[in-house]
Amino acid sequence: MSRPVAIVPAAGSGVRMGGGEPKQFREIGGVPILLRTLTALRDAEVFERIIVAVSDDERARVEAWVREIPGLVCVTGGEERFHSVKNGLDAVDGEGEGVPGVIPTVPGTGSPGSDDERVVLVHDGVRPFVTAREIVEVVAAAERDGAAIVCSQPVETVKSLGEGGGIVETLDRERVRLAQTPQAFQTGLFHEAYMRAESETYVGTDEASLVERLGYVVSVVEADRWNIKITTPEDFELAEWILKERR
Ligand code: C5P
Repeated sequence: MSRPVAIVPAAGSGVRMGGGEPKQFREIGGVPILLRTLTALRDAEVFERIIVAVSDDERARVEAWVREIPGLVCVTGGEERFHSVKNGLDAVDGEGEGVPGVIPTVPGTGSPGSDDERVVLVHDGVRPFVTAREIVEVVAAAERDGAAIVCSQPVETVKSLGEGGGIVETLDRERVRLAQTPQAFQTGLFHEAYMRAESETYVGTDEASLVERLGYVVSVVEADRWNIKITTPEDFELAEWILKERR
C-alpha cells in the first residue's frame, strides 16, 4: 500500500465569519489557522503529500509554506467543498494539477503511483487542533475497514424534527455521532463514491455521506475534546483560549 495522502479543503470564503479575510488565513497565536492545521498534519508523520485546495488569490502565499510543510501541493478550490475535495482527489494519483517541482518532497517516498488501496485523508483547513492520535487512528481504521471518520458524541439529547419544524422523535444518544474531520478512505472506494455522487448530483456536507450512499458502513474513531471547526467569531476566541490553556 502506498503511503497516505492528505487533502485539505481550504478554499472557502468564510461568510459565517462576517466577511473580510477568509477565516483559514486569520491568525491565532500569530500563525494563520491553515498553517497550524497543515503543521498538525505534518507532525503526525503519516503523509507522503499534503494537498491543499485554495482559491487562486491565496495560492502563492500557501505555496510559499512548502519550506515548513514538506510534501505540500496546491490545487485550485471549487465552487463548493465537494468540488474542492474532488480537485484534491484528482491530484492524488497525478491526474490533476499540482505545483511543478514540489511533488513529492518527503525523502524516500518515491513517485506517486495509482494504487487503489492507498488511504486518502480529508481534513478541514479550519480544524487546527487535530491530534496525531486522531490522525493515526483514523488512517489505521480506513486501512482496515475502507472508510473511517472522527466523530464526537453529543452531550445533549438529540431530537428529530418533522415537516412542520416541531419535534417528532428523540434519538438514542448512544447511536448518534457528530461527524468531524479527519475522514479517511481507501482511494478505490472514494473514487467510486465520488462517481456515484456526481451522477446523482449529490454534494453533501461531508465526504463520509458519499460513501454511505454506496451502502458502505463507515467506521468511527472517537474525537478528542478540542478538535473544533473554527466557524464563527466566537470560535475564534475559543481557539485563542485553547491555544493558551489547553495545549
Ligand atoms: O464552510 P465550511 O466551514 O463547511 O468549510 C469547511 C472547509 O471547507 C473549510 O476549510 C473551507 O475553506 C473549505 N471549503 C473549500 N471550498 C469551498 C468551500 C469550503 O475548500 N468551496
